[in-house]
Amino acid sequence: MNFETKAIRTQHERAFREHSVPLYLTSSFLFDDAEHARALFTGELEGNIYSRYSNPNVNEFVEKMAVLEGYEDGFGTSSGMAAVYSSMVPFLKQGDHILASSALFASTMKIISEYFPKWGIEFSFFDINRPDTWESKIQSNTKMIFAETPSNPALVLIDLQYIADLGKKYNILVNIDNCFATPYLQRPSDYGIDIVTHSATKFIDGQGRVTGGIVLANKEIIAEVRTFCRQTGPSMSPFNAWILSKSLETLHVRMDRHCQNALAVAQWLEENNEIKKVIYPHLPSHPQYELAKMQMRLGGGIVTFEVKGGLERGKNFLNHLEMFSHTANLGDVRSIATHPASTTHSKIAQEQREAAGIFDGTIRLSVGLEHLDDIIADIAQALEKSK
Ligand SMILES: Cc1ncc(COP(=O)(O)O)c(C=O)c1O
Repeated sequence: MNFETKAIRTQHERAFREHSVPLYLTSSFLFDDAEHARALFTGELEGNIYSRYSNPNVNEFVEKMAVLEGYEDGFGTSSGMAAVYSSMVPFLKQGDHILASSALFASTMKIISEYFPKWGIEFSFFDINRPDTWESKIQSNTKMIFAETPSNPALVLIDLQYIADLGKKYNILVNIDNCFATPYLQRPSDYGIDIVTHSATKFIDGQGRVTGGIVLANKEIIAEVRTFCRQTGPSMSPFNAWILSKSLETLHVRMDRHCQNALAVAQWLEENNEIKKVIYPHLPSHPQYELAKMQMRLGGGIVTFEVKGGLERGKNFLNHLEMFSHTANLGDVRSIATHPASTTHSKIAQEQREAAGIFDGTIRLSVGLEHLDDIIADIAQALEKSK
C-alpha cells in the first residue's frame, strides 16, 4: 500500500464496529482472572494493563507511525522532548559518550551538554557543516550519534546514508529527530538509521492542539525504551494519541500544501531586496540542494531567512505581521513566525547559536495552509513597515 492508504487504513479491530477511531479514556484495564494478570505482567500474554504502559489509542498511533516510518515498533510519549530523552537514556551509562550535531533543538542540546555530564556521560558536538570531521569525533566509548535533519531553524541537512554508514562502521546507534520532515517527506529507515524520534506536536498534529512524541526502532531497541518509560512515566495520553491518529490521516495532504506554499514564499523572499539570505532545502541556492532533492520528497514547511537590519529589524518585522501568529510552535495550519535568537534559542551562547546558523536577524517561518496570496501579502507589508 502507498503512504496515503497506510496513513488512513492502518487501524486496530473495533469492538463496536466503529468506523473512525474511538477514544479509550481509561487509566487501567480489567484482568480475566489471577492467571491472566500474572501472564500479562510477565509478558507471556500481550495486552493492556495500565495506560502508562499502553492504551488502545496510543497503540494504534504507534502502529501507524511504525508502518509509515518503516520500523518494527515504537513508543508514544507525552512530548517530543520526552521522546528525545527516552530514546537516549536507556542506551547510555556512566563513562559512555554521545556524539551529537551542533545544530539541534535547544532543549536537546541542554539535555546532552548540561544533564548528561552530571551523570558521567561524555558528549561532543560535531560541526553540522563539516561532515569530513565527524568520523574523527568518534571515541572508543561513543554509544550514540544524534542529529536532526533538516536542522531547526537553519535547515542544514545531514546525509542520512553517510551517517547511517558511520554508525554501522563503529557499531554505534544512530538516532535521528525526523520532526521537520515527517515520514511523508523522508524516511530515515530507508538508509538504515537505527532510531527515529519525533515531536508529534508539529506537523503530525498539524493543528496546534496537543503535545506528543514518539520513538521508533526495531523490537529490541523499543523493548528497552518501553521498559524505561514504563518505570519513569513519560507516556502519551490516550486523548492526545486519538488526536494524532486522526491527524495522520491527513498528513500527506497537509504536507503537500505546506511545501507548495513554503517553496513559493521562499522564491518570493529570494527576489526581495530587504532580505539578506533565504534558506529552503528545495531552492537551488541551498548549499545542499542536490542532497535535499534526493533525500526529501518536497522541501518542507519551514522557510528561514535573514532580514537586513539585524536584531531590531527582525523584531520590528515580527511586530508588524498582522495575520501570521507570533508563537513558539511550528507545523500548524496557521502560518507562524518566530525570532529564534530571542526565543527558542536564546539560552544558547551567541557563538554556539551562530555556529548553528542562527543570527540576530534570522526569522523562522512555519508556512501554513492559508491562501498563498494572503501569506505573501502579510510578509510584504511587515517588511515594508519594519524598514
Ligand atoms: C526538532 C525538534 N525536536 C524536538 C522538539 C521538542 O518537541 P516538543 O515541544 O513536542 O517537546 C522540537 C520542538 O520545537 C523540535 O523543533
